[in-house]
Amino acid sequence: MITVIGSANMDLVVGTENFPNQGETVIGTIFDTVPGGKGANQAIAAARLGGEVHMACCVGNDLFGTSIVDNLQQNNIDTTSVLRVNEASGIANILLSEGDNRIIVVPGANSLLMPSHIDAMEEVIKKSKLVMLQLEIPIPTVIYALAKCQAIGVPVLLNPAPARGFELDMMPSITYLTPNETECEQIFGMDMIDALEKYPNRLIITLGSDGARYFDGERHIIVEGFKTNVVDTTGAGDTFNGALAHGMVTGMDLEQAVRFANAAASLSVEKFGAQGGMPTFEEVESRLEGRL
Ligand code: ATP
Ligand code: RIB
Repeated sequence: MITVIGSANMDLVVGTENFPNQGETVIGTIFDTVPGGKGANQAIAAARLGGEVHMACCVGNDLFGTSIVDNLQQNNIDTTSVLRVNEASGIANILLSEGDNRIIVVPGANSLLMPSHIDAMEEVIKKSKLVMLQLEIPIPTVIYALAKCQAIGVPVLLNPAPARGFELDMMPSITYLTPNETECEQIFGMDMIDALEKYPNRLIITLGSDGARYFDGERHIIVEGFKTNVVDTTGAGDTFNGALAHGMVTGMDLEQAVRFANAAASLSVEKFGAQGGMPTFEEVESRLEGRL
């Protein structure tokens, strides 16, 4: 079982031909509300691939909270560690344009995920093969969860997104760290190659359409991305992480798991919404075999 401890949001997505400049008004082309949040997205990415997934998060006692929980359950995720709290559900204001996005997250209920919640789910953590964390919940809770997982002996995949709040002294309790290039630079403040060589087989850097890379102790392994027609890149990183986790808990070696994750993420960017394009295991296999 994979346990995700993280955020769940409702994404308020606006598409437009051009991003507005400061003080400018532009006319949009689409508007939709779809479930998101890095924690929930990564949980759903792993669950779509057939994995057993448990999600811990906080959502509001509001309509968005109800939709978020329904969506997790429809994706076969165990929601017994989802708390309903007296705070508005988290939202992300997402602007899509020019093949890219700009996102403002208002954490709301996500800010109420506390260390006491981690204590309450100790038995779940003990049963997990891997725990996944991101940085959209309070940093003290992330630090507490890392210490708990280390004490129990459960491996942790931490996706340091957004990179704010990451502390280098978290590294000893992290098994896999998966920043994108910008986050890597923000976290380590050093050349990417030096950072990779410092953390062999543990630091996996995503490279957008170019795929991902890591250092295996002897060689730099660059695992190429898959060429695709991009509709919406929102959630590409989350799909990569959910699929990487699925690969690792099902016995793939790191290179296989990164290739599997690249294939899954390349499928996810072909559809609208963070979760809209997250593939099934069969779809990823088809992409890996060049049939999709
Ligand atoms: P995002 O914030 O857009 O969700 P990210 O910045 O966290 O993503 P990226 O490195 O941009 O992370 O992308 C994550 C993974 O998604 C890449 O390693 C790659 O496998 C896949 N990916 C991203 N963009 C593309 C693309 N245009 N074509 C194919 N694969 C892509
Ligand atoms: O990674 C994409 C996610 O970031 C979106 O779903 C949005 O909710 C923000 O948390």
